[in-house]
Amino acid sequence: MDEKYLLGIPEIDAQHEEISHLVSSLQGVITQKGQRHLVHQALKRLHQILVTHFTFEEAFMGMVSYDDLPQHKKMHKGVLNVFENYFDHPPEPADYEILGKMISDKVLGHVMEHDLKMTEAVKLYLSKNAKTRSETQRA
Ligand SMILES: [Fe+2]
Ligand SMILES: [Fe+2]
Repeated sequence: MDEKYLLGIPEIDAQHEEISHLVSSLQGVITQKGQRHLVHQALKRLHQILVTHFTFEEAFMGMVSYDDLPQHKKMHKGVLNVFENYFDHPPEPADYEILGKMISDKVLGHVMEHDLKMTEAVKLYLSKNAKTRSETQRA
């Protein structure tokens, strides 16, 4: 995965890696016309992973007291809505490329723009915890 997507939080980076891989697979089945019957399956798999990932990420953000958690949850819902719209009204295969680009931009854009913002909250949480631990050891 491109380094610009890395947050330095191993569990979340691994999940983002898998998501980025599934986005590439989706783009692959969309661009190869002979594989277009696999588009629905690829979208279902990506949606499933995102649901699990968002639940994990929101719990993690809660643990580090991330201030923008309510706003971030809304953004996750916005990403999932794109998939739900697709499941409710699947587009014609001729529009798959537009759909693929929209999903790719939305999912990877979210990681780069919004997930990256949580790294500061994580650093703060870790430094506070490190202080608390060393104070407890001294006492
Ligand atoms: Fe994420
Ligand atoms: Fe997120």
